[in-house]
Amino acid sequence: MKKLLVTGGAGFIGSNFIQYILDKQQDLVLLLDLDLLTYAGNLENLEPVKDDPRYRFVKGDIRDKTLVEKLFAEYDFDTVVHFAAESHVDRSILEPEVFLTTNIIGTQTLLDAAKRHWNLDPDNKHSREYRPGVRYLQVSTDEVYGALGKTGMFTETTPLAPNSPYSASKTGADLIVRAYHQTYGLPVNITRCSNNYGPYQFPEKLIPLMIHNARQDKPLPVYGDGMQIRDWLHVKDHCSAIATVLEKGKTGEVYNIGGNNEKANIEIVRLILEALGKPESLITYVQDRPGHDRRYAIDNTKITTELGWAPAYTFEEGIKETIRWYLDHPGWVERVTSGAYQRYYQEMYQQQ
Ligand code: NAD
Ligand code: DAU
Repeated sequence: MKKLLVTGGAGFIGSNFIQYILDKQQDLVLLLDLDLLTYAGNLENLEPVKDDPRYRFVKGDIRDKTLVEKLFAEYDFDTVVHFAAESHVDRSILEPEVFLTTNIIGTQTLLDAAKRHWNLDPDNKHSREYRPGVRYLQVSTDEVYGALGKTGMFTETTPLAPNSPYSASKTGADLIVRAYHQTYGLPVNITRCSNNYGPYQFPEKLIPLMIHNARQDKPLPVYGDGMQIRDWLHVKDHCSAIATVLEKGKTGEVYNIGGNNEKANIEIVRLILEALGKPESLITYVQDRPGHDRRYAIDNTKITTELGWAPAYTFEEGIKETIRWYLDHPGWVERVTSGAYQRYYQEMYQQQ
């Protein structure tokens, strides 16, 4: 990997990944971040790398064919790591359409450009020969598998059964990636990770939202009975898993990513309150999310045994460090939660 296109690199996981890979991958000569800078994208997340001579930023839309083509022609990428997406389940319930265009059409636009630039005989529909060393990696999610009951775990062969407009759009994207591999032989991987936490996460997601509200002594809105289970992984461990798949993943394979760390939402909320020295009376049970998935749990056997990846963080140290990060960056939190965030929060939680 010498010339890398990262999409959505100004978001939560993308910005952590760019910092991670520029640090670890010394033979990288170029990393271009293509990001539309939606409400979730923030160039401040990339301050630590902005002076790295290998790093470039282009503001643009992954659905813009002309732009994507031009970037492939100009920079001659050999690797794509595709993070850009509408990523929030609650927003997908309020406004599904943009999830379909960004998450599905955007993915297909990138796949098309990669195929055209990497195929050795792009005008021949039967050609399955590609330049050596090229790879397209789709960053997907465990939500494509739907919800689990009290037992069981998602493996890579669990049937896809998404329940929200967000997860349905991510599933659509996964299927089009699979189709480009099956039909055209494009060298791809798909990674499906569980819930991430860590620095730079937009405070519409559970952990940063609860830290943000608790600090201001505002109610903590817990959906339903708070007993839904998520399988939490530190974002840096997600980044190291993606780097492992880029290095050792078998072409065409799907890899689940998770750290065996299931927690009920209410446990996480209580832990945050305790860490901040705030009272449990701030907890406010509110109406449940429509179609709320009850439990996620990732079986990570394939990536751990076949590729030798393992998470480095325990949840206890990761969450402590994460809470510290939000407390140490009040300016970042204030800037991302001004303006449009206030309107979203009002609309989302108004009936509670
Ligand atoms: P995020 O919402 O924080 O960031 C998304 C980024 O994509 C933003 O910078 C945004 O500006 C950009 N973007 C949105 N639409 C775009 C478009 N049309 N063109 C170009 N850029 C666009 O998301 P995240 O939490 O960092 O998630 C990144 C990826 O990882 C997503 O694909 C998501 O589905 C997947 N994922 C997330 C988690 C999680 O827990 N957050 C877990 C597993 C997988
Ligand atoms: O599993 C991976 C997925 O994790 C990613 O694909 C998504 O991009 C990411 O947003 C995340 O989806 P979730 O819906 O699990 O994350 P969220 O932080 O929105 O919610 C986590 C849990 O907390 C979920 O059960 C809903 C609950 N919740 C969330 C919010 C925002 C609340 O109880 N109250 C809230 O205010």
